[in-house]
Amino acid sequence: MIVLAIESSCDEFSMAIIKNGVEVLFMETFTQIQTHAKYGGVVPELASREHVRYFSYVVEKVKCFLDAQELVPQAVAVTVGPGLSGSLLVGINAGKTIASILGVPLIPVHHILGHIFSANLSEEVTFPILSLVVSGGHTELIISKTYTNHVVIGKTRDDAVGEVYDKIAKQLSLPYPGGPIIDKMAQQGERTYIFKKPKMDERYAFSFSGLKSAVVNEIRKGMLTESDKINLAHSFQKTVIDELSNKLIQAVEEFNVKTVVLCGGVSANSQLRQRFVEISADYKSLKYLIPKIEYCGDNAAMIGAIANYLPPLSISKQNLIDCSPNLTIAEFFKKYNEVKE
Ligand code: KG4
Ligand code: ZN
Repeated sequence: MIVLAIESSCDEFSMAIIKNGVEVLFMETFTQIQTHAKYGGVVPELASREHVRYFSYVVEKVKCFLDAQELVPQAVAVTVGPGLSGSLLVGINAGKTIASILGVPLIPVHHILGHIFSANLSEEVTFPILSLVVSGGHTELIISKTYTNHVVIGKTRDDAVGEVYDKIAKQLSLPYPGGPIIDKMAQQGERTYIFKKPKMDERYAFSFSGLKSAVVNEIRKGMLTESDKINLAHSFQKTVIDELSNKLIQAVEEFNVKTVVLCGGVSANSQLRQRFVEISADYKSLKYLIPKIEYCGDNAAMIGAIANYLPPLSISKQNLIDCSPNLTIAEFFKKYNEVKE
């Protein structure tokens, strides 16, 4: 099946043409990083306005590709949540319009499922899967038994990992997004600061706000030299990666899975990727997948990758699709299964 996929949940407007959920024929992403950089984070009102300003540019590129290749998509897939409401609405309305013009079904997609199945764009997953989803809005461990059966076994109680990277970068007067910059700094540093591990009563729950406060306190003491900042970035990153990888290893040992996936924007982190490779060497019988760098952050290819396995809605049901900023995976399946009936 050829799917035209749309992702607009945060500060990227992305469209892609995906064949059979695994082959990316085309992708165009318009990122607003420049717009939000000076504010130290995404400003929701600006994000939706920028989507409105630029989505027609992306649509035009996709149309040129389809015309040149003489291709007609068989379905349109769009992210319905979670995300920023104004941003989601632009993509959903674009999706409804394109699906109705083409006369094809619309497939609503949950953003996190997109991140997980971005792995399929490297190599097809074998179920059951254990995924560590790390992004600007999410830090979750998820077991997937099939494309439509997912259980969240743990998530963050407070900040998401990417969010902490971005907030620390802001304190250091570095532009948004802080993740890639802190990652680069960390590679040159040494562990001169020791931060406490969060104590959690739940086996797979995460918490990063204590670590964030500890790092921010060091910054606010003032007088940090460039090399202190680099060592602080290294020490912070080491604590984060130890925490993520320890919980991932516990889950690998406890659950009988065949594939382990690392995904989401923070999966672009060089040291986290390296640690993931080390874990794969210790637990050899499993398949380990990390999306290519271009599919780690928000993108439409990942939405097309999972859409291939989700139920499409006929044209008469498409008006029931709306944006759900806090949509959980369980709510997503409940809502759209009911719509289908
Ligand atoms: O998945 P994504 O594009 O958007 C969300 O769904 O949140 O993730 C963006 C997040 C940002 O917080 C960004 O700082 C972080 O991913 N990020 C990184 C790196 N590259 C992006 N964090 C750590 N190291 C990186 N190399
Ligand atoms: Zn994301």
